[in-house]
Amino acid sequence: MSYGKRWASITIFIFVFVISFVYWIDKSALTGNYFFRTFATTISPKKSSVQVEFPFKFNCSNLNLTCPTNYPVTIEKEGSSPVACPEYMRWIHEDLRPWKSAGITRDMVESGRVYANFRLVIVKGKAYVEKYKGSYQTRDVFTIWGILQLLRLYPGKVPDLELMFWCGDETVIKKRDHQGPKATSVPPVFHYCNDDETLDIVFPDWSFWGWPEIDIKPWRTTLEALKEGNKRIEWKDRKPYAFWKGNPYMSRTRMELMKCRISDKQDWNVHLYIQDWGKESKQGFKNSKLEDQCTHRYKIYIEGSTWSVSEKYILACNSMTLLLMPQYHEFFTRSLVPMQHYWPIKVTDNICRDLKLAVEWGNNHTDKAQAIGEAASKFIQENLKMDFIYDYIFHLLSEYSKLLKFEPTIPLGALEVCSETMACLEGNKFWRIKNFMVESMVKSPRDTLPCTMPPP
Ligand SMILES: *[C@@H]1O[C@H](CO)[C@@H](O)[C@H](O)[C@H]1NC(C)=O
Ligand SMILES: *[C@@H]1O[C@H](CO)[C@@H](O)[C@H](O)[C@H]1NC(C)=O
Ligand SMILES: *[C@@H]1O[C@H](CO)[C@@H](O)[C@H](O)[C@H]1NC(C)=O
Repeated sequence: MSYGKRWASITIFIFVFVISFVYWIDKSALTGNYFFRTFATTISPKKSSVQVEFPFKFNCSNLNLTCPTNYPVTIEKEGSSPVACPEYMRWIHEDLRPWKSAGITRDMVESGRVYANFRLVIVKGKAYVEKYKGSYQTRDVFTIWGILQLLRLYPGKVPDLELMFWCGDETVIKKRDHQGPKATSVPPVFHYCNDDETLDIVFPDWSFWGWPEIDIKPWRTTLEALKEGNKRIEWKDRKPYAFWKGNPYMSRTRMELMKCRISDKQDWNVHLYIQDWGKESKQGFKNSKLEDQCTHRYKIYIEGSTWSVSEKYILACNSMTLLLMPQYHEFFTRSLVPMQHYWPIKVTDNICRDLKLAVEWGNNHTDKAQAIGEAASKFIQENLKMDFIYDYIFHLLSEYSKLLKFEPTIPLGALEVCSETMACLEGNKFWRIKNFMVESMVKSPRDTLPCTMPPP
């Protein structure tokens, strides 16, 4: 080959290369962060799939909004091995035990209707809701929203099912009503808590996706804010008292607690504050930020009328939690260990004295008290991250679905729900609802498997 010919072919090669590079850059600009995704895939040692993203910026002004029909499906990374689920997921087996041997018939599900706020149906990865009665504030809306996000996170993986959901405070399925011959017809009803006397199936409460009425942001955001907030004051520099702020009119024990407020005669080492949500709302909630409430060495947890949404916020404060022994179980609270994650306080006539002693003990043994506070925060930060909340729901729904003895069908009068229609509908009513939904929306399907369930 002559010099001239060689130069010509090199020039042509460079020309073609430049042209294709320019074309590629251009295409990347059109498809968003194509470059970074491709780059990440190339440098990854394992062969991994390209992350699919949902069409995210839907436009609520388009009133003809319908649920999309072409959701992307997950492609798992090759060789991705699932992590073990946190211990508390073991309780899924326990909560479903009443139906373990005989399964769940359609009649059983129907008999739960009298208690339910809504029926949720999942058929072929799509969700349908039949509403029976309104719930307090937006509890039902954000609960359904959470399930829709699960469908986005694990498209095609959530099995068909029909379930009844109750959004109130009180538990509804009493054990004593379902003993003897009636033990074979327990209505399976999903709810946010149960206790030793009830058979409600425990499901994470709405606050994981947000509580707009009192400006409690979605859990992912709040958890991060608490982590940052904890850095502000070192444990030893915090006030050597126990802190509680809330609505005392929710239960008799909370009223009892209020008797421990400092009086002329006695200082019980506790700082108690009444939360006036009406006033807070007018002031833009600037004094009720959860991450600003980690200022004391000790924090008190006390139930409201049943479980209280506040438990996870209190435990995540790096302060030692003085836990007035709860009657009701939230899904994660059953694997908390006394003296490791909290200081237990029996609900007796001596609450004030016991609180005072606990605070005194902590101030005498600061290293131990600090360690208990930090262990609880670590438990919450690690075991209660949003990924595991979704995995808990995924496993709960999957195990529940295995027990169904009938084919789930879309009921007449049920509405198909999806993130697009829901965010827009609710957004018209109250701006914070839409903001929280956009914030807590799952942006792309997960490309790893759900965690592995512990055995019963
Ligand atoms: C949303 O849709 C409306 C009506 O179709 C249009 O006027 C508006 O510009 C759109 N907004 C955005 C952000 O695309
Ligand atoms: C709304 O959507 C339906 C079904 O996709 C379509 O037939 C109809 O023309 C749409 N209406 C408007 C006003 O865009
Ligand atoms: C804390 O220490 C003080 C002084 O040593 C002691 O009087 C008190 O009994 C201790 N309290 C507790 C609960 O350990």
